[in-house]
Amino acid sequence: MTTRREPGNSLDQDRAATPAPVIEAKGLKKHFPVDTGVIAALVRRGPPRTVKAIDGVDVSVSSRSIFGLVGESGCGKSTLGMTLVRLYEPTAGRIFLSGEEVTHIHGDGLQQFRRRAQIIFQDPYGSLNPRLTVGEAVEEPLKIHGIGDRAERAVRVVESLERVNLQPRHFLHRYPHELSGGQRQRAVIARTLVLKPDFVVADEPISMLDVSIRAGILDLLEMLSKDLGLGVLYVSHDISTVRYVCDRVAIMYLGVFVEHGETDEVIDYPAHPYTQALMAAVPIADPTATRRRVELPGEVPTPIDIPSGCRFRTRCPCVMDICSRVAPPWQEVNPGHHVVCHLYQSSVTPTRLAKEAR
Ligand SMILES: Nc1ncnc2c1ncn2[C@@H]1O[C@H](COP(=O)(O)OP(=O)(O)OP(=O)(O)O)[C@@H](O)[C@H]1O
Ligand SMILES: [Mg+2]
Repeated sequence: MTTRREPGNSLDQDRAATPAPVIEAKGLKKHFPVDTGVIAALVRRGPPRTVKAIDGVDVSVSSRSIFGLVGESGCGKSTLGMTLVRLYEPTAGRIFLSGEEVTHIHGDGLQQFRRRAQIIFQDPYGSLNPRLTVGEAVEEPLKIHGIGDRAERAVRVVESLERVNLQPRHFLHRYPHELSGGQRQRAVIARTLVLKPDFVVADEPISMLDVSIRAGILDLLEMLSKDLGLGVLYVSHDISTVRYVCDRVAIMYLGVFVEHGETDEVIDYPAHPYTQALMAAVPIADPTATRRRVELPGEVPTPIDIPSGCRFRTRCPCVMDICSRVAPPWQEVNPGHHVVCHLYQSSVTPTRLAKEAR
């Protein structure tokens, strides 16, 4: 168990040693207009509505590190990942890659950016063209970006397959249907790596894989991040997997972050009632261990109609009067560990709350 840090200790030194962010976003929003069609316009009352999938997120991922993003289905994880790699045009906010603004780049600039910022989706079955061999699939991005001649591309394909532990002589000529799920996901990762990106979004890369091979894919992500210096945004709805690979983690609810910090700190001392509920849902292997149950009433509200004040208040077991009136500001509950919750502004101390919740 990680010991609780006291203010002013080594975390500041850790921060000083943290490499510069490879990707950074400030005030990022992605809203999707809905009921915009002609028929919808006839039947709706009032102006068209919007789904506020991402509603003001600040995020920073360093090279050589894995940043975990956790939250329930529909909270906006994939939309954030896709907006960061510019598969979606942001509605508001700014995105920087290695300090250079990429929010509205297009044409050649966007093409260059796509080489450096990649995404791996959860479905390794849908991510590979069934008509291409593994070798052809891994070579394809090099052809699309006009990189190297035939011989140079062959070298890079072999290097990428070796990196993901797929022996080129066994796998180069195989088709996707001749691979296991884990091998397919490794081939997808090789296809991503062949472009030598700086930043990769791994969107639930293990959720469709058999439990027995999940750890192998997570180990691979960690190894690639450390060896190749990649910054990785690892998306998961399962908070228990992030501890294995993530240096830092953010908890997301209805399009915003509600808590973030170093992974051990957030998992051992969850401060936000939502994080505490997510942690309470994780099974414990030790039958003698006890953990306070935190039940969340009701359903996740729709991102079309976000509650006033604190957006978690409609399900929060600790809700107070102020929560419906005022959106809580960010509070630093421990060095580098931040939370948005009114509980931490009152006389209730974060230390007491975090310990009660465990
Ligand atoms: N293209 C779109 N048009 C309209 N709404 C969208 C679009 N894409 C996503 N949404 C909505 O935005 C919200 C966030 O969706 P998103 O897919 O980012 O969630 P998620 O956290 O990745 O969920 P999951 O864990 O199920 O993958 C959802 O309410 C979803 O319905
Ligand atoms: Mg998703």
